[in-house]
Amino acid sequence: MNAELSYNNKKTELKVLEGSNGETAIDITKLRNETGLITYDPGYQNTGSCQSAITFIDGEKGILRYRGIPVEKLAEKSTFIEVSYLLIYGKLPNREERAQYSQQLSINALLHEDMLHYLENIPPTAHPMTLLSNMVNSLSVYYPGFYVENYDNATFHLMAARLISKIRTMAAFCYKKSIGEPFVYAREDLLYVQNFLNMMFSSPVKSYELDPDIIRTLEVLLILHADHEQNCSTSTVRLVGSSKVNLYSSICAGICALWGPLHGGANQKVIEMLESIQKSSLSPKDCIERAKSKDNPFRLMGFGHRVYRNYDPRAKILKAYCTKLFKKMKTNDPLLEIAMQLEELALSDDYFIERKLYPNVDFYSGILYRTIGIPTNMFTVMFAMGRMPGWIAHWREMHDSLPFKIGRPRQIYTGSPLSEYVPIEKRT
Ligand code: ACO
Repeated sequence: MNAELSYNNKKTELKVLEGSNGETAIDITKLRNETGLITYDPGYQNTGSCQSAITFIDGEKGILRYRGIPVEKLAEKSTFIEVSYLLIYGKLPNREERAQYSQQLSINALLHEDMLHYLENIPPTAHPMTLLSNMVNSLSVYYPGFYVENYDNATFHLMAARLISKIRTMAAFCYKKSIGEPFVYAREDLLYVQNFLNMMFSSPVKSYELDPDIIRTLEVLLILHADHEQNCSTSTVRLVGSSKVNLYSSICAGICALWGPLHGGANQKVIEMLESIQKSSLSPKDCIERAKSKDNPFRLMGFGHRVYRNYDPRAKILKAYCTKLFKKMKTNDPLLEIAMQLEELALSDDYFIERKLYPNVDFYSGILYRTIGIPTNMFTVMFAMGRMPGWIAHWREMHDSLPFKIGRPRQIYTGSPLSEYVPIEKRT
């Protein structure tokens, strides 16, 4: 199938690509050579930057699948470690593969002790996302000698295991640093999520009792964050990685992109918004009115999505988990009540209906993180921990795809066509 472009009395045929679920795209790789034109698409709202076999989203229908498997099924049946293997290696691991992978993660859990000096000299008030991005980037200092030109499968497996395992240690250490407690090291007898909870919440004077419901909740949170195709941070990992910089630095760039409040940083902003309603400075209705007002930059945090024009399937699962977990634990969080009120008001309001704005993954995730005991400024770190396998899978896929091209968009220049150089004594 082809599309036809008519410009300057000349017709150009452009190939139409079709994805495995029927989605279509005009292939413009020859456009500039054949017509002199480039495309203009601020925010890349209509631009496909690559072909990918990792994650499928149908935003109109609210569908999300990793390697073809519905995320609902993975959230119900699988573990974060299995899902990371699935994303990176393209299939769910069998028993033997899972055991080998778990062992790789166990032996890579420690941080180089010199790295801890970095943490020692950082003020405890530092946002953990800064610490995390710096520590991930510094892995290329401690594990040098890796160059994209000559990497092989064994090196890649090792790097991937290092990142997935060490980000958990880094996250827990960032938290311990912020509360001034000694670091707790990973244990070989604990699985990934259990280990993380232990490193976060046990101390030399207090052991942490692992609760199966908390473990499962965290497992599901990480699974639901594990990939989301070409979002801002993943596209950043691909773009930065396309210069052939090492994997650690590419992922550090992704962590920085994730931190922004329009992306992964929204989970922290949602809780801050709900707390400000709880403290009565704002009612849920005021909040909705502010979000609708064109004179106010305020947005309903945790609502809206570039791709979903329907309920984000991840938010649906997390909302159900909130109710389930509170029922089991016989507790409640007043913020859940407020969130549900906001959702009800928004989903019956013309402004949100017309724009197809629904709760996204960040709307309910913070309430669950709070219940687990994770402080608000660590929410985006948790997101980064979950997203690590997705970033790694995309970096690998990009490097393995041919023809390999450095990412380099063009622009429409709107500045002065030609300016004269004015010597300093004559400048006004
Ligand atoms: N509250 C109020 N209005 C909104 C919201 C919101 N949360 N989101 C979008 N809108 C409105 C916009 O003002 C715009 O209205 P207009 O057409 O009258 O100008 C319209 O809906 C379309 O919004 P855009 O910003 O053009 O949509 P875009 O796809 O560029 O942005 C985004 C998506 C950034 C997620 C946006 O919905 C938003 O800012 N949401 C709040 C932040 C948030 O929750 N981010 C997390 C996203 S999920 C993730 O990254 C993990």
